[in-house]
Amino acid sequence: MHCTLSLMAACLVTLSPVYGWLPRPKEPVQLQVETALEQKLEKMQALEKQNTVDVLDVNLMTGVTSSLPAGMTWHSKLTSGRGECACDRQGVLKLTVEGGMAAQINMTFSHSSGFTFNVGDSVTNDGYGGDRNTQQNDAEVHSINNAIYFYGRDKRGPGGGSYGLLHSEGGFVATQPFTTVTLHVADELATAHNGLKYLYINSHKMFALNGQSDAGGVNYDVYLGMNRVVDSTARTGTGLCNVSVRFYQL
Ligand SMILES: *[C@@H]1O[C@H](CO)[C@@H](O)[C@H](O)[C@H]1NC(C)=O
Ligand SMILES: *[C@@H]1O[C@H](CO)[C@@H](O)[C@H](O)[C@H]1NC(C)=O
Repeated sequence: MHCTLSLMAACLVTLSPVYGWLPRPKEPVQLQVETALEQKLEKMQALEKQNTVDVLDVNLMTGVTSSLPAGMTWHSKLTSGRGECACDRQGVLKLTVEGGMAAQINMTFSHSSGFTFNVGDSVTNDGYGGDRNTQQNDAEVHSINNAIYFYGRDKRGPGGGSYGLLHSEGGFVATQPFTTVTLHVADELATAHNGLKYLYINSHKMFALNGQSDAGGVNYDVYLGMNRVVDSTARTGTGLCNVSVRFYQL
């Protein structure tokens, strides 16, 4: 396992400044912001610090995972690795985000090629918005290579259809080896930061985790596809190495 050791060493050196440093937003992208962005981010960062609940750690190179905290289960268990020492294991986590909770998801990449992550409000999300009509609340956030995409849920009523792409940002994911992207997922909220830039989408078009009606059934679940989309392995990626997830109260 000397490859693990050298990768770990490289990882620690590159990551330590990123992990210890939570920058304030300089020029945040604001979409549908309801209250002051700065205030919300400060509150979120304060809550992160207070929080002591269990963290799930997943290593997509070695397949080592910590035990599952309450509210997290495997929807699709981790596959075995294909490339030697590659960050290419695939799996899907189910996260139940209820009672005004948020999920914080830290993801560290060696690089990002293809669909390295997909957070979806529907179990059949597969990128580009939409889910073959399983749920109306089917917003999703995902990568393709180094870009991140935020897609809205379906519109209500006659005509329906997805709200479509709310925002995309190129050069955001794995801008350098062993950098981290942190996502926050909550009702009507998705944020992403990569150590340099914040993306903050606070909109009724995003995740619906407060009991909103849904022809496909009300639920409080989001799914996290790792090195694949949620729905299947028809769309996969490589380069996501580590994922850490925890819940906190908003
Ligand atoms: C991330 O994954 C790499 C590659 O498997 C591993 O060496 C490292 O220890 C992991 N880091 C964390 C924080 O889990
Ligand atoms: C994610 O990274 C931030 C910044 O280092 C840290 O404060 C937080 O505890 C991490 N969260 C998880 C779930 O590991």
